[in-house]
Amino acid sequence: MGTVALQEVKVQGAGAGNGRAKLPTEAAFLRQVDGAQTGKQPYAEPMEALDSTGEDANGAARPLRITLEWRDLRYTVPLGVRRICCMRRSNGERVILEGLSAVMPPGRLLAVMGPTGCGKSSFVNALAGRLPAGGTLEGQVLVNGLQRGKGFRAVSAYVMQDDVLFHNLTVRETLHFAARMRLPSTVPPAAKAARVDAIIAQLGLAGAANTQIGNAFVRGVSGGERKRVNIAVELLANPSLIFADEATSGLDAFQAQSVMESLSQLAKSGRSVLATIHQPRSSVFQLFDLLMVLSEGQMLYYGPAAEAVAWFASCGFHCPEHYNPADFFADLVARDRRTPDADATSQQRIKLLVARFKEHHAEGSTEEGAVPQADELAMQRVNERPPFPNRWPVEFGLLLKRAWKQQSRDRLPQIITLMQTLVLGFVLAALFSDVPKTAQGVQDELGVLFMCCMFSAMASLFASLNTFPAEAGIVNRERAGKSYHVLPYYLARFICDMPLRVGQGLLFGVIVYFIVGLNPAAAAFFQFVELTILEGLASQALGVAVSAAAKTEKIAFAVAPGVTVVLMLFGGFFVSTDSIPASIRWITYISHLYYAFQGLVINNFAGRTGWTCASPQDPTCTITGDQIIDKLGFGDKPRWEAYVGLSCLILGYNMVGYAVLRFSKQKFLPLSPAAGKKRA
Ligand SMILES: Nc1ncnc2c1ncn2[C@@H]1O[C@H](COP(=O)(O)OP(=O)(O)OP(=O)(O)O)[C@@H](O)[C@H]1O
Ligand SMILES: [Mg+2]
Repeated sequence: MGTVALQEVKVQGAGAGNGRAKLPTEAAFLRQVDGAQTGKQPYAEPMEALDSTGEDANGAARPLRITLEWRDLRYTVPLGVRRICCMRRSNGERVILEGLSAVMPPGRLLAVMGPTGCGKSSFVNALAGRLPAGGTLEGQVLVNGLQRGKGFRAVSAYVMQDDVLFHNLTVRETLHFAARMRLPSTVPPAAKAARVDAIIAQLGLAGAANTQIGNAFVRGVSGGERKRVNIAVELLANPSLIFADEATSGLDAFQAQSVMESLSQLAKSGRSVLATIHQPRSSVFQLFDLLMVLSEGQMLYYGPAAEAVAWFASCGFHCPEHYNPADFFADLVARDRRTPDADATSQQRIKLLVARFKEHHAEGSTEEGAVPQADELAMQRVNERPPFPNRWPVEFGLLLKRAWKQQSRDRLPQIITLMQTLVLGFVLAALFSDVPKTAQGVQDELGVLFMCCMFSAMASLFASLNTFPAEAGIVNRERAGKSYHVLPYYLARFICDMPLRVGQGLLFGVIVYFIVGLNPAAAAFFQFVELTILEGLASQALGVAVSAAAKTEKIAFAVAPGVTVVLMLFGGFFVSTDSIPASIRWITYISHLYYAFQGLVINNFAGRTGWTCASPQDPTCTITGDQIIDKLGFGDKPRWEAYVGLSCLILGYNMVGYAVLRFSKQKFLPLSPAAGKKRA
């Protein structure tokens, strides 16, 4: 239907401008939109008068009225990049955004539309300062007339296209945690709770407040509700600017309408809202205050949404009566690659529209003083890096509580882990029960001890591999918003996982210990427990370090088997330490399996006697426990060495894991205004 409509409009030549509707100049446009909607308030004034601290009665920062301006925004990415280790080869660059300039007054909902791949997300990300590193971004982004500063992120919110929420928490719990983590500790708990209630009501989430978020496997809130929870989380910090990329993707028409209505309400409350959107229905289109139409990274229209139809008509493209303008624009600005002829026609049309808009824009942007300067207090907030909202112990407590809630409700993996441990423990115990006191029995006992070490190491290592990748999306968002420090987060995740990781190895070890009949002394049993716990913690720390370094579960699980093999080879069971070449012997000392096995062997055999040699020449020959320890190369090792070795490795692996996590934060592309000027 859209294509038919396009065939009805005709592409006019250079003279098409005659008699076309003229868009207002930028200053006039600002006045016009402002006057029409907000009664001519000055653009840079805060929504409510700020007191001396810029905070409301509860101590939370008030939103500001922000005029956002972008000048000559140009985003390019290298083409055909090949990465071999650290070498890169580039075959030129691709321009994603080309010279975009405009001013957006506060209190508006700006919809960014255009065909897929035209650069909508890139544009919103460029303004929000969230383009991934790897390309070049040139131009300027001004906030109330001044360069975007370090506090920009704190006054703006970014609603991601993907919903990044903990699926086991309810809507209310999600918002409560977000409020407590993002609002400063000066805001009383009752005020935080009241704010959560207000936002739940504002976004129409009251009916779903106590429903868990859910995911593809766990039934939870609807797609539209989940999207609104995402918006609500961002709203808690009271942002002045809201960026929403594809806020309605994947939603049905009704849900999409309700999400866009929520965004429109936020704009009406004085915030500036930028949203990319695909094919909105007519009723949604009517919610837009401003519209930006992009095609192939270039601007075809920017101005009041209500005037877009008239603008395109003035260019010779008439929207048929009773036709959804959004559908009309979508067809108008899309490149039709189905046939060479259609492609040439659509390219010609886009070129014409770009040229027309540029011509108008060049006229309109010459007027000086369109954006007034902001007051000092408001700009201080935009420019200064904000402090963390809470103190370290408060952050730790909150993160631990959240992690515990999320984990303890995930019952199925816990039940599977428990069952697997019981089954494997009893199978191994059945294989080696009643080990005889012979040379063969010694081999069996050593095998059982090594299996206990291996089980604890593998179970903890593999279970820890998705610690960080599983929640990377949520944590990246929270870190970008400076909600908390990395160390309390790291410790909370580690401590929360500890009982399960350590408990699994311990349960396995205890089953095997009694059924196989290892060293019967009570002290030896308790030392066995201590060493198994320490080994479990070291394995968990190693798994967490791998997960922090790997970034994705796929990479983590690809690396893990290699780590496992090295751990096994240097564990002291297959090859005694003395037989390992000196150049690689150091690997032994970073293997927790080695210290655990050493400790368990000494604990099990030291001071014991009575194993027969089974030698036909000498039936009276016996082997002592100390001889077994000597044979494995542990004869000169004191008991404490295993404890110290494991403790050092727990600390060392954790330090590596923390350092990797701390320094692997998402990198965003900086703006380089100088490059833009140079090119000009
Ligand atoms: N880092 C990058 N490297 C290479 N190409 C990129 C990069 N980022 C974006 N692009 C390309 O730039 C174009 C615009 O991408 P963008 O995601 O902004 O489009 P979009 O309009 O949001 O599309 P959609 O409607 O499908 O979400 C696409 O063709 C995309 O493939
Ligand atoms: Mg996109």
